[in-house]
Amino acid sequence: MNAQELIAFFMDLHRHPELGLHEFETTRKIREKLEAHGVLCVPSSLATGLTAVIQGSAPGRTIALRTDLDALPVQEETGLSYASEVPGVMHACGHDFHATVMLGAALRLQAARDRLKGCVKVIFQPAEEISEGGAAMAREDLFGDVEEFYAIHTYQPFETGTLGIKEGPVMAAPDSFSLTFTGKGTHAGQPHKGVDPIPAMCAFVLEAQTICSRTVNPFEPVVVSIAHVSAGTAWNVIPGTAFAEGTVRTLCRETRTDIRNRLERMAAHIAEAHGLQADFRWRPGPDPVINDPDLCRACASLAREMGFHVARQEDCMLGEDFSEFLRRAPGVLIRVGTGGQFPNHHPGFTADPQALERAADFFARLAMERAGLT
Ligand code: NI
Repeated sequence: MNAQELIAFFMDLHRHPELGLHEFETTRKIREKLEAHGVLCVPSSLATGLTAVIQGSAPGRTIALRTDLDALPVQEETGLSYASEVPGVMHACGHDFHATVMLGAALRLQAARDRLKGCVKVIFQPAEEISEGGAAMAREDLFGDVEEFYAIHTYQPFETGTLGIKEGPVMAAPDSFSLTFTGKGTHAGQPHKGVDPIPAMCAFVLEAQTICSRTVNPFEPVVVSIAHVSAGTAWNVIPGTAFAEGTVRTLCRETRTDIRNRLERMAAHIAEAHGLQADFRWRPGPDPVINDPDLCRACASLAREMGFHVARQEDCMLGEDFSEFLRRAPGVLIRVGTGGQFPNHHPGFTADPQALERAADFFARLAMERAGLT
């Protein structure tokens, strides 16, 4: 696929975004292109997604490239001629860009397989935004022999022509939790006849703020955010329950466990002090994404050789289920500069189609050099 074909494919995906685990048409379009060029496609263990397998002409190492496929429940406001035709659904995180780049890379590798040693597996993973695709696909037997994994992500602060390659942690573990306090509802004019869960929930929200400020090393990045609190229905009724939920973002396993335990303990003891029942639930997200330093150096030197500007992206506490694959083998999540005015997940997010071709060339060459050339 040349630049024009890549752009046309990308714009088509952008017009027809699909949410996680519903990427049926996206998967079909990718499979069609791959099979038309004789690439072996292995369906994923989920309803959507697939892996393209490109076998070289001599034995060698096995390398994997990984893209996500899904869109977000966002109403697009870009005004682009190829804007989403699906109300309330948009490729606001550039996964259409990622999928097109990796399709382009797979076809480049297929065309060059006479010179390729070993094997390249190109993973088209569904459901990244809902943290379900990575965990399921990373368990597939197909990836038992993969020695290195590489993933792509668009990056709006960098212009086209820049790649963000940074060693160490680049994404956090995005865990979430919820808490329900149950007391006894009553008339707001007779609070002594019930057990009010609202002051207890206020105490919990404030107490949780001391985790980052009082218990974590100030040099360690940690986020504890309570983003949703609800209780009650009217000004004169004390409700029976109060609810809160939020997220914890960490980079290190010990801190992750420690914060979970602290929150749970706070919930239990505040409930006890107020005579309430506490129901605390912890939903673990994927692990942090940690880029391998040696592989980063290899990626950066190839990127410079190919004329890219290489920069270090800002540290960020977002999450990415690419880490599920990194449990199997080391790898790198590479940020591709795609310009634009708005960050990922914003209704005005755009990714520069002019960046597609060079990114496809880069990932194809990266996989080829890491697998081995005859
Ligand atoms: Ni994304």
